[in-house]
Amino acid sequence: MSAALRAVAARYGNAARLYRRLWAPAMVALSRPLIRALPLERNDLVADLGCGVGAIGARLARRARGVVGLDVAEGMLKRTPPEVVPVAADIARLPLGDQTIDGAFSTFALQHCPRPGSVFAGVARALKPGGFVGTATWGTDHHEIGGVYDVLEELFARHRIPADSSGLKTYHDKVDEPSKISRFATNAGLVVERAWFARSTYTWTKAVFIGWATTMGPFGRRLAEAPEPVRARLIEDLHNDLAPLGPDAYRWTPECVYVIALKE
Ligand SMILES: C[S@@+](CC[C@H](N)C(=O)[O-])C[C@H]1O[C@@H](n2cnc3c(N)ncnc32)[C@H](O)[C@@H]1O
Repeated sequence: MSAALRAVAARYGNAARLYRRLWAPAMVALSRPLIRALPLERNDLVADLGCGVGAIGARLARRARGVVGLDVAEGMLKRTPPEVVPVAADIARLPLGDQTIDGAFSTFALQHCPRPGSVFAGVARALKPGGFVGTATWGTDHHEIGGVYDVLEELFARHRIPADSSGLKTYHDKVDEPSKISRFATNAGLVVERAWFARSTYTWTKAVFIGWATTMGPFGRRLAEAPEPVRARLIEDLHNDLAPLGPDAYRWTPECVYVIALKE
């Protein structure tokens, strides 16, 4: 395994418990347009590529014969629900036999792959004829502005918390448009059925937003580096500054990219 992939596995593996509680609900909400549109049938065996804690796979398992969840982070796989069969693997080197699955999907994982084309090539090989692959990725506008995000930005600036220097190298720009994903699918011999942008909505609860902002993601990582008294003051201020905000301030509407392709 490359050092970069080991870093991905460590980052997600170590954050898995928090991820399931604080981040997976957002991923489910933002994956909904894809979940609804996948041409899944009752008897299908499907693979969830970069499944994380299996939150999306668990939803699709209700409509399928079986879901295999592949992920490089064993800490994430340990937390998958019983209806998702966990497999430790690099999705760019799929350990699935030729023409063994009816479908595959991947939500918010492809941005970690330096060569998304190899994921599509592996999927095209593993799909049975008539099978499908569906992806959800970030568009270019994550829309982390307004409402609670402005409060957070202002607070981190006021407390002079330095920028996040420990971000993983990602490849968002390779998968942030329907046309880019479509090209990977087409080059792998698949036929694009649908490729679209949509702004999906996730509404944080106050407790989950504070939990996320102070323990994980870019803000949580920045805060982890701050001296304890600064950290404690910022968290206290965050509670106070969020107090006057109504529920609309907690709505997040990032632009996402959804693609469905078929193997003929
Ligand atoms: C943002 S999480 C998304 C998890 C899940 N799909 C969801 O929507 O909640 C990205 C996941 O992709 C996994 N991942 C990234 N690169 C991978 C690779 N090359 N092979 C397997 N898993 C990978 C990470 O370990 C992580 O669990």
